[in-house]
Amino acid sequence: MKIPKLNSKDCLTVTDFSANELYSLFELTDKLKKETKKGRFRPVLKNKTLAMIFEKNSTRTRVSFETGMYQLGGHALFLSGNEIQLGRGETIEDTAKVLSRFNDGIMIRTFEHEKVVELAKHADIPVINGLTDSYHPCQALTDFFTIFERDQNLDEMKLTYIGDGNNMAHSLILTAAIFGTDISIGCPAKYSPDIKVIEKAYEIAGKTGSKIEVTSNIEEAVADADYLYTDVWASMGQEKEAQKRKKAFAKYTISMDLLRKTGKDTKVLHCLPAHRGEEISAEVMASPHSIVFDQAENRLHCQKSIMCSLMK
Ligand code: CP
Ligand code: NVA
Repeated sequence: MKIPKLNSKDCLTVTDFSANELYSLFELTDKLKKETKKGRFRPVLKNKTLAMIFEKNSTRTRVSFETGMYQLGGHALFLSGNEIQLGRGETIEDTAKVLSRFNDGIMIRTFEHEKVVELAKHADIPVINGLTDSYHPCQALTDFFTIFERDQNLDEMKLTYIGDGNNMAHSLILTAAIFGTDISIGCPAKYSPDIKVIEKAYEIAGKTGSKIEVTSNIEEAVADADYLYTDVWASMGQEKEAQKRKKAFAKYTISMDLLRKTGKDTKVLHCLPAHRGEEISAEVMASPHSIVFDQAENRLHCQKSIMCSLMK
């Protein structure tokens, strides 16, 4: 089995990787997925351990990383942010140095992205970003793998994201730019993605040919889309803004009506957890257009590929 050699020690954002590296990660993901389906597991990470720090809730990330490590012959440790000394003020630097003496990799889900960058700087072992306020690379890579396994030509399609210009939107724009995929974001102007992320995506798109559009007009955004994507209106950490956001995003729902406006047999993605009746209708979630559970399953396969490549 060919394990990709990656330039970067860590997986902090999707821009840590080139398109070629991502295609080789997908090739390995595909192999691991097929083997897993047959009940075959390779102990690529035998005796290796992954420390998983969670400062926010999680179902998919926690379970897929822990299951993935087990299936690769290793072990994952769940470390709740407020139960380890980090929660009592131990520095990121000391935490990074200590975990580097015990473990072979660190996965972290936290608030400020800078914290993950700092952790990676002081850790001798790979650090994997399991979501920050700014990015969710493992999810976006999984999403593009989910699209890739259906339609190989990532540079000949359009993905539309409807909703908040959040961590998910950021990672999707950057991944689309790397692969040359056209992407439109339909969001209220006040909730547009970070301008620095858009500029970075434009810079990458200049070389790959991906078209990037940000608009508050959702009909315009979804025109000709092969895939529609959405995420919650209030992310973890924004609970207090939930009511205000409900009003601001009231028109930004993926409904059957909106889905018909693409003029294609469009598939729908959602990183989950979903709020039916808010960013997506229950009807769309239950329709044959929805591929959200294939997408959720692929977290396992894609992250196994990432862990093998970084931690082998
Ligand atoms: N999509 C995702 O990361 O889900 P969790 O928050 O459940 O990990
Ligand atoms: N944008 C969401 C993604 C959850 C997987 C959040 O940060 O809460």
